[in-house]
Amino acid sequence: MGAAGFICTGILLVFSFAVSSAGGEPVFNVVGFGARGNGIADDTKAFEAAWAAACSTSAPSVTMAVPPWRAFLVGPVQFRGPCAPQKITMLVLGAIVAPPAGAWKWSIGKADHWLMFYRVDGLRVTGNGVLDGNGQSWWIRRCTTSGCVRSAPTALMVEQCNNLELSGFTSKNSPQMHVAVLNSISVHVEHLTIIAPRDSPNTDGIHIGHCTDVHILNSNIGTGDDCVSISSGSRFVTVHGIVCGPGHGVSIGSLGKNGAVAAVEYIEVSNVHFFNTLYGARIKTWQGGEGYAKSISFTDIVFINVENPVLITQFYRASDVAVQGAVAINNITYSGLIGTSRQPTAVDFDCSTAGSCTEIHVNNMRITGPAGLSGTVARCQNVQGDTSGYVYPRIPCLT
Ligand SMILES: *[C@@H]1O[C@H](CO)[C@@H](O)[C@H](O)[C@H]1NC(C)=O
Repeated sequence: MGAAGFICTGILLVFSFAVSSAGGEPVFNVVGFGARGNGIADDTKAFEAAWAAACSTSAPSVTMAVPPWRAFLVGPVQFRGPCAPQKITMLVLGAIVAPPAGAWKWSIGKADHWLMFYRVDGLRVTGNGVLDGNGQSWWIRRCTTSGCVRSAPTALMVEQCNNLELSGFTSKNSPQMHVAVLNSISVHVEHLTIIAPRDSPNTDGIHIGHCTDVHILNSNIGTGDDCVSISSGSRFVTVHGIVCGPGHGVSIGSLGKNGAVAAVEYIEVSNVHFFNTLYGARIKTWQGGEGYAKSISFTDIVFINVENPVLITQFYRASDVAVQGAVAINNITYSGLIGTSRQPTAVDFDCSTAGSCTEIHVNNMRITGPAGLSGTVARCQNVQGDTSGYVYPRIPCLT
C-alpha cells in the first residue's frame, strides 16, 4: 500500500511525460504516448505503445500508468509478454472504456475479449480506476430467435500469467464475463468491485479455469451471473470475504460438458455473504461428464433471501453427445451455514444413480424461510455422507 501510494503521487507529479520515474522505477504514462482520455478519441494505439515500451524496458520493475480523472476509449487489445521486467504493473487510476458493440473496433474478427494479458509473468493490475465494458450495447443484442450476437467479449481476460495480482479496481457492465483468469499459477485477486445489473446475460464476476494456487479475497460482486465461477483444471483455490449479490452465487463448474474430463480439487470458500442471489454455494456438473470435483469446503456462509442456497447437481444440463457416467463429487464439507431461503427447498443434492456423490458432510447449518414465513426442506437423491452439530433443514439422505 505504501509503495502504491508513493507511485500514485509520483505519477501525479510527472503526469505528462511519457517516461518518468517513481521511486527509481520507470513509469510509462499512456498520455505521454498520445492517449487523449477524453472518452471520444480512440486511445488503443497509445495503450499498445505504452505497453510495448514498458514490456521491453530493461528494469526489474516497471509501471504503465493510466492517470486519473480521464476516460480512455480503448478497443479490443492484447498486452502480450513475455516482458523483460520481472514485475510489470498496470496502474489504473482513470477509466478505461470499451467502444459499444457494433462500433468500428469490434468488426475485426470475432473478439472473445476486450482487454487481454497474455503470458505476462509478475503482472499486477491495480489502482482505484474503472474498467467500463459498455455492456448494455451487447446485452440488448442477445439472442431471441435468429440474427443475434451469441457470444460477447470478456472484459478482462488474463491467460498464462504466473504470479498475478489483480487489485483495487472496479469492473462494470462487461459485455460477457468481467474477469477471467486462465492457465495461470499463483493468482491473487483482492479488493475488486464488480457491478452489472441482475438481468445482464452471462456477466460472471470472476472466472477461474486451469489455475493453481489462487486467492480471491475481500471483493464485492453483483452481476447477472456467477459472482465467482471455478471451472475445470483448478486446484488450491481460496475464496474468502466476498459479498455476492445480485448474481448466481459462487459456483464450482459447470464441469463435464459433452463428456469432458473435469478435475477440480482443494477449493475453500469461506466468509461469503449472499444477498438476494439466485444460487449460493453451488456445484454443477453436466450429465455424462468424467473426472472429479473433490475436497471442496464452504465455511461460514450467510444467505440472505437466496433462491437456492445450497445446491449440488449432476444434471446441470444434458450433454449433446450420448455418454454415461458423471463427474464424481467427493469430500464436500459445508460448515457454519446460516440465513434465509426464498424458496422452501434450501438444500438440494441432486445426484445421478452412478453413485458418485460421496462423503458429503454438513456440519452446523440453519437455513430458514424468509422471516415470518414457513420453514424449509432439503431434497436429495443418491448422496452419501453425514451431518454433525445442529442441521436445519434435516437432510434425509445423510446419516
Ligand atoms: C477433504 O477435503 C478437505 C478440504 O475440505 C481436505 O483438507 C482433506 O484433505 C480432504 N480429505 C481427503 C481424504 O482428501
